[in-house]
Amino acid sequence: MPTFDRVALSEIALDVAREAGEQVLRGWRSRPQVEQKGSYADLVTEFDLASERLIRKLLAERTPDLAIVGEEQGGTASDAPTWYCDPIDGTVNFAHGHAFFAISIGVLERGQPTAGAVFAPALDTYWRGAVGHGAVRNGKPCQVSATEHLDDALIATGFSPVMRRSGHPEDNLAAFVKVMPAVRDIRRCGSAALDLCLVADGTYDAYWERKLSPWDTAAGAALVLAAGGMLSSLRDGGPVNFAEGYLLASNGRIHHPLAALLTP
Ligand code: IPD
Ligand code: CA
Ligand code: CA
Repeated sequence: MPTFDRVALSEIALDVAREAGEQVLRGWRSRPQVEQKGSYADLVTEFDLASERLIRKLLAERTPDLAIVGEEQGGTASDAPTWYCDPIDGTVNFAHGHAFFAISIGVLERGQPTAGAVFAPALDTYWRGAVGHGAVRNGKPCQVSATEHLDDALIATGFSPVMRRSGHPEDNLAAFVKVMPAVRDIRRCGSAALDLCLVADGTYDAYWERKLSPWDTAAGAALVLAAGGMLSSLRDGGPVNFAEGYLLASNGRIHHPLAALLTP
């Protein structure tokens, strides 16, 4: 198998995310028409579809040997590094004119995140990184926070559209009630990719969510690792299965006390 330079892949991811982001930004606050996919809370717009078409075209030109998996068109991973793309992460925000959405392009190698970039066009902010080679936010090196105690921690979470309204035991409401009094505060801003980037750059001290997809997490999880953070499965505390997406990401220092609250 040919070897791929992770830093070079992260730079390609950033170039492509920026180009797609410029295109997506043209539709922001236009109140685009939405279509429901799986549920009333799982949306797609013409801008998601056009963004993924552009991402696929640009990635195929730059890395013709790598497989591409995207949220809207699917695809199959290979044994080599595989691109995982979310053409708009935070589509509900985008559709409502909220600025917290991003284009997320990451690499999984044998199922584990190794490189990626995330671009939030309405925030004019990007993150890029490769595991073992550090992470940057808008060109400046970034790292996870040094927060030691849950009392001092700002945490993010999200609520999967798949488990809303169903009374599902893993719908995250019970976990939210448990964590809320233990930390300084919790944010729920609606883009898993950006939540992970904000752990990587030390804004958040940790983030958790259940039932994410690999295109939500591939880039952001690579950034957390590249920035010195820690990941674990919310199911059993072991390595994350990115196909299942039960994820706790943190600065490492508060990982175990938070995991003790979240992991059965
Ligand atoms: C969603 C966002 C949201 C998270 C959901 C994801 P989408 O992705 O990342 O923050 O809570 O689980 O599905 O649908 O906007 O690409
Ligand atoms: Ca997503
Ligand atoms: Ca999406």
